[in-house]
Amino acid sequence: MSKQLTIILATSLALLEQFQGALSPSATASTAEDRSKNANANANALGLLSASSAALKAQVTKLSLLAINSPFTHSAVTGVLRACNDSVLPSLVTAALLVTPAEYTKAFHSEVLLLVRTTLTEFTTLVQQVKGIAEKKDQAKKDDPKKKEEELSKSEKEAATLAAGRVWDACDTVTEVATKGVVGFVMRRVEEWRDLVKDAVDEIEDWDPEEDDDGFFDDLMGGDKADEADEADDDDEEGDDEENAALQEEKKSTLRFLKPVMQVYPAIVTNRLKKAGDAPLSSTGGIAKLETLMLNLQSIPEQVDEVAGALYEGNASKSAKYLKKIQKCASQAVETVTPPWDSAGGAEGETPAEDKFTVWSRTWFKVMDEVSKSIDAESST
Ligand SMILES: *[C@@H]1O[C@H](CO)[C@@H](O)[C@H](O)[C@H]1NC(C)=O
Ligand SMILES: *[C@@H]1O[C@H](CO)[C@@H](O)[C@H](O)[C@H]1NC(C)=O
Repeated sequence: MSKQLTIILATSLALLEQFQGALSPSATASTAEDRSKNANANANALGLLSASSAALKAQVTKLSLLAINSPFTHSAVTGVLRACNDSVLPSLVTAALLVTPAEYTKAFHSEVLLLVRTTLTEFTTLVQQVKGIAEKKDQAKKDDPKKKEEELSKSEKEAATLAAGRVWDACDTVTEVATKGVVGFVMRRVEEWRDLVKDAVDEIEDWDPEEDDDGFFDDLMGGDKADEADEADDDDEEGDDEENAALQEEKKSTLRFLKPVMQVYPAIVTNRLKKAGDAPLSSTGGIAKLETLMLNLQSIPEQVDEVAGALYEGNASKSAKYLKKIQKCASQAVETVTPPWDSAGGAEGETPAEDKFTVWSRTWFKVMDEVSKSIDAESST
């Protein structure tokens, strides 16, 4: 193998390892704070991120073609690896490190680090394959210097192409996340949580307390046992009816409560995220607001699951407890983004700006007060 190629392969692999270490959560935690003070320098972190991931993708295309085609040209492969080592990889890693939690939210920061680390891992795999190919060709030449260089086998070519494809995918994901930006990322998460809440509410809607009664156990026990159980049931049918009516009522008031909670998600997506652009990043406390928003909207799906569990157990006080938590989270989320982004932190004495969402939020709070009356009664007993 040419000396240069040997050196650049070793350097690239060492650099990749070092960069992956630099992007690990423990490594970035301590440096994040210092960097966050340097706001202007970071303004174009996402631009650099998408440009450098696109550049890596282009280099990877070249590298994989050079690796699978004969003759294997050491100088060309060295050139591509050198470009990666000298500029493409350092830019990518620098960009990732500029996406600080303070300026882009903790969740977005972690997402970017994870995606870039994945990209580096996939690229490492490709470089190792290239190294393997180089070593194999070297050995063949040593064994028989006069023999013409052989083509790689189909499976060797496929392996290299597959590895390159995986780096491309990783690069595309980085580019996409960088292009959509932090608000796009938050919006995607909020939509995921909205779907989880909807699934949980659908499940409650489908639940029939009567059917649930002993049916589950009857099914488990099979025919004979089930008949006996039915006979036993007949004795306290009246008690069952009463219980069923109470459970139906529980179910109804729970759903009445959860309906406005569900509406919070699309209302915030449409009015506060979809057309927000970079406003949250430039407005005072915008990032802190996004953090609060995510924290609250993320915790609601789990709590709705708890409510469902409590309903099935017939534990009304437990259900009320979680509904109150849901109300608190949903209210905080709505409150956080009630002022339009551009009016946030408006001068003292100024009346806060109004828009469709601020009006909507007032109605929403009234509705929540109304639907939570029965819950309040329950949770105070
Ligand atoms: C790799 O890049 C670094 C700078 O990023 C440079 O110092 C080093 O000499 C390069 N290595 C090779 C083999 O080109
Ligand atoms: C209802 O749930 C609570 C936990 O929130 C638990 O402490 C209590 O024992 C449960 N009650 C019944 C009747 O299972």
